[in-house]
Amino acid sequence: MSDTPAYLLVGSNGMLARAWKERLDADGVAWAGLDRPDIDITSQASLAAAVPAGTKVVVNCAAFTDVDGCEEHEDAALAVNGFGVGKLAERCAAVGATLVHYSTDYVFSGDASTPYPVDAEKGPQSAYGRTKLVGEELLAKSGCDYRLIRTSWLYAPWANNFVRTMVRLTGKLDAMKVVDDQRGRPTSAEHLAACSKVIVERGERGAYHVTDGGECTWHGFAVEIARLAGHTCSIAPCTTDEFPRPAQRPAYSVLGLEKTEALAGPMPHWKDNLADVMGRLEPEAG
Ligand SMILES: NC(=O)c1ccc[n+]([C@@H]2O[C@H](COP(=O)([O-])OP(=O)(O)OC[C@H]3O[C@@H](n4cnc5c(N)ncnc54)[C@H](OP(=O)(O)O)[C@@H]3O)[C@@H](O)[C@H]2O)c1
Repeated sequence: MSDTPAYLLVGSNGMLARAWKERLDADGVAWAGLDRPDIDITSQASLAAAVPAGTKVVVNCAAFTDVDGCEEHEDAALAVNGFGVGKLAERCAAVGATLVHYSTDYVFSGDASTPYPVDAEKGPQSAYGRTKLVGEELLAKSGCDYRLIRTSWLYAPWANNFVRTMVRLTGKLDAMKVVDDQRGRPTSAEHLAACSKVIVERGERGAYHVTDGGECTWHGFAVEIARLAGHTCSIAPCTTDEFPRPAQRPAYSVLGLEKTEALAGPMPHWKDNLADVMGRLEPEAG
């Protein structure tokens, strides 16, 4: 019998990877985790050494995730989010592993008014979205058994994310503004990992969307975070134009959940997932 763990987590120091580790531990499933410098998905030689024959499932949590940084460093982002995914998918095809890969609402244009189905037309408006779309395309061409999972607005009790930032800011400011003209779906990383595992176990090769249920704007999200934290900071709605950023953000990036809910059941509402996470927030480092 092979002693290769069933799951290999790539980019294992990241926010989502930690949720996967905890999910697999809770389910009693053996896993191994690798991050840089022990694996570099931009290098075929690194992948050949790091993804052994006998690996059943590779979960790719590695990515160039600095959305604004991608505008200035699109080639570096493309090497990871685009060509790196292609190389990892080829390696998975060679060893017969299923590859779980994550993409983003940013592959869509953001000008829709109803949720994006998994096969909606793409139209990325930022370098991050363009590089992630190249990764999606190379994954589909690779011939490997894949689950492409698009998600949005990730948060967890740990790591840098909007929830922890808002708890910090609303705890020290009397008033602040948060954009109210971008609409989407928050996603608990723990819910995403659990639902992804169901998709591995029950789903077929192809694309899925996984987020929390319901939808909101960043302003609505921030107001609920402050309420749950017991903070009295006044949070005023504002427009995206008031906070210019290097990368354009989609105005409407609600990912349609029909396909995933048919397979895995209803997605829990973001207010419920948020309340659960808020009860377990880890202290900020430093
Ligand atoms: N965060 C969100 O709101 C969000 C929304 C939609 C989709 N997603 C997608 O969800 C996935 C997980 O996101 P996350 O927020 O958990 O990411 P994260 O916390 O930024 O973690 C990414 C990890 O990938 C590693 N990495 C970067 N380049 C690598 C390379 N060439 N080879 C191997 N590892 C490499 C990073 O290591 P270093 O620390 O060394 O850089 C880091 O540990 C990504 O695919 C992301 O695009 C995230």
